[in-house]
Amino acid sequence: MAIKGKIESILRHCPPLFRIGSRIYHAMNFGFKSLSAGAPGAIKEAFRLAEELHSGGPIGDYYEFGLYKGYTFFEAYHTAKKLGLRDTRFYGFDSFQGLPEVEDADKSDGRFFEGQFACTRKQVEKNLSRHGVDFKKVQLIEGFYEDILDEQLKKDLGARAAGVVMLDCDLYSSTNTALVWLEGLINDKTIVIFDDWYSFTEGKELGQQRALKEFLQRNTHLRFKPVIEYERNGKMFLVSKKS
Ligand SMILES: C[S@@+](CC[C@H](N)C(=O)[O-])C[C@H]1O[C@@H](n2cnc3c(N)ncnc32)[C@H](O)[C@@H]1O
Repeated sequence: MAIKGKIESILRHCPPLFRIGSRIYHAMNFGFKSLSAGAPGAIKEAFRLAEELHSGGPIGDYYEFGLYKGYTFFEAYHTAKKLGLRDTRFYGFDSFQGLPEVEDADKSDGRFFEGQFACTRKQVEKNLSRHGVDFKKVQLIEGFYEDILDEQLKKDLGARAAGVVMLDCDLYSSTNTALVWLEGLINDKTIVIFDDWYSFTEGKELGQQRALKEFLQRNTHLRFKPVIEYERNGKMFLVSKKS
């Protein structure tokens, strides 16, 4: 992982080379695993904590933004099943065409590009089915967030409170769109995982940190308490209501 990081930071100085390198790396990487080393562990911890906070009762639903091959989604499903969380439903949101056009501040360090992390819906469904996911409690919602996340979708899904939210969609724009849609679903005791918290080296005014800052400016009744940080760029929060 350290070598991969070093090669990546060198190639980032030459965006066309970085894109080619990234495409080759992902095309050769056939395994069913997460792109993020620490994400599976963070998901396990999120569900364990949710179960504890809800004293064994229903914890709410799971919302994941950014599936790629579906591994983190599978991990959430599998963990909840092991814990006996029968009430939880699982929603996965992805374009299944990779990242949208990367614009404005999201362009800043050249790490992300349009079409990156593309994996077809058919392949994701195959991966999940092969690993024992029963689609009765699972729904995959296809499309770019900017086009699909609206109030009608909430009604169509019968969206309920979020128990665990996984935001693994890299960009400020994608995370912001997801967080705007999640307003009202994120509440007291929701656990929110930002897999790209430190993806932008310049910090707070970019990426997921900026998206959360703006969410909290709109939702002044909520507090996000850091729970853990994990490899490579992730951070998990517990939401509570201000008294
Ligand atoms: C880094 S990958 C997800 C990795 C996955 N959770 C894992 O651990 O293997 C990011 C995903 O976010 C999706 N994505 C990002 N922005 C999006 C947007 N605005 N609309 C739809 N999908 C988006 C991409 O298609 C891609 O599948």
